[in-house]
Amino acid sequence: MKKFVYYAPTEIVFGKDTELQTAALVKKNGGSRVFVVYGGKSAVKSGLLDRVMNNLRENGVDALAMGGVVPNPLVSTAREMVKAALEFKADFILAVGGGSVIDTAKGVAHATADPSHDIWEYWTGTPVKKSLPIGTILTISAAGSETSNSAVLTNDAKVPPTKRGITTDFNRCRFAIMNPELTMTLPKYQIGAGAADIFMHTSERYFAAILGNHLTDEIAEGLFRDIIEYGPKGVQDPTDYEAMSEIMWCGSVSHVGLTGVGAKGDTAREGDWSCHQLGMAMSALYDSTHGATLTAVWAAWCRYVRGENLARFAQFARKVYGITEEDDLKASEEGIERTNAFFRSLGMPLSLTELLGFTPDDETIEKIATECTYDRTRKIGSFKSLDYDDIVAIYKACR
Ligand code: NZQ
Ligand code: ZN
Repeated sequence: MKKFVYYAPTEIVFGKDTELQTAALVKKNGGSRVFVVYGGKSAVKSGLLDRVMNNLRENGVDALAMGGVVPNPLVSTAREMVKAALEFKADFILAVGGGSVIDTAKGVAHATADPSHDIWEYWTGTPVKKSLPIGTILTISAAGSETSNSAVLTNDAKVPPTKRGITTDFNRCRFAIMNPELTMTLPKYQIGAGAADIFMHTSERYFAAILGNHLTDEIAEGLFRDIIEYGPKGVQDPTDYEAMSEIMWCGSVSHVGLTGVGAKGDTAREGDWSCHQLGMAMSALYDSTHGATLTAVWAAWCRYVRGENLARFAQFARKVYGITEEDDLKASEEGIERTNAFFRSLGMPLSLTELLGFTPDDETIEKIATECTYDRTRKIGSFKSLDYDDIVAIYKACR
């Protein structure tokens, strides 16, 4: 194996009733004044927010809660929260929710620690140099933000809005409380979208430009098989503790960087991330659910790029689904079809028409491709580098 760095500092506290350890974990990480970030109504309705606030206060930790984070979270919300966190003199940021809440909490932590920059500046090039400690109580298994070094926000002041992500180790949570029971109140659509996103966080790294390292492949193929088995079970019965547990742990392991480790070169395998970029443009313009944007484009992306390394797609089909077809092209096609059936079993869309609720015309596709390429200033992907014309072709193929 070649050199690599694997950094995964988040303490995982997994299982029933683990949210009762919140105050102890905050204190362990030096927090005494906690600014709690949550979303819409789900954490209030389930009683989780009350339980967490009581746990903090009963154990001598001051806490102030602020909600209002929406899916595809907005930088304007994060800005309001920074003001409140500064007034409260917060020394710790706690996210109670999913990817949208956690990513907002990450932004709030950075801009509260150093308010000399507007929060969007950190999303557009200004390096994050300090931050407040962040903890998470996870309520949806999907984005993997509880263990990842990324955070994604939408700038709603831009016309049209634009969605951007940043990657920094300041985005790593100190702890993640993961009680699968907290995910049992999720709507089936969100469980399905979450499972799709979990699958994609392995796919984006598995179909990378630089490969090598057998163990990394084996871990990735195991993660694929796990989410393919348990994702549909969770959608069918959200009260199935074993299924919701598998989905939850699979979500964190899929995005902690483990399947990006080990390269035939001195760099870690970077991953491709094209489907995420194709999807984020649609989330920015149409507020589409993240996981659903990915299933709408995945098969078209596979068919467009597989010629770069057909054997890799055949390996995916054989190792993940046990497909015995010897011809690589046919095997890859079977793997794509089986994956589409998996997405369907999650209740996810397989085309732009199904995703958006209308069939986008050429002009609309060009608008989405313009957002995806940041006004034609960048290419995406590493398995195959894709320019504006490639991106238009892929969007048209999944129309
Ligand atoms: O706002 P509330 O009322 O809580 O409702 C949420 C929201 O409507 C609901 N929900 C969450 N937990 C629930 C619940 N409803 C009932 N019971 C519960 N226990 O679910 C809806 C979706 O929540 P959201 O946080 O948006 O979902 P997800 O975790 O999929 O996050 C998506 C966001 O994460 C970003 C995506 O782009 C998107 O903005 N991502 C972040 C990543 C990262 N930081 O590493 C990586 C991902 O690839 C992704 O890009
Ligand atoms: Zn994702």
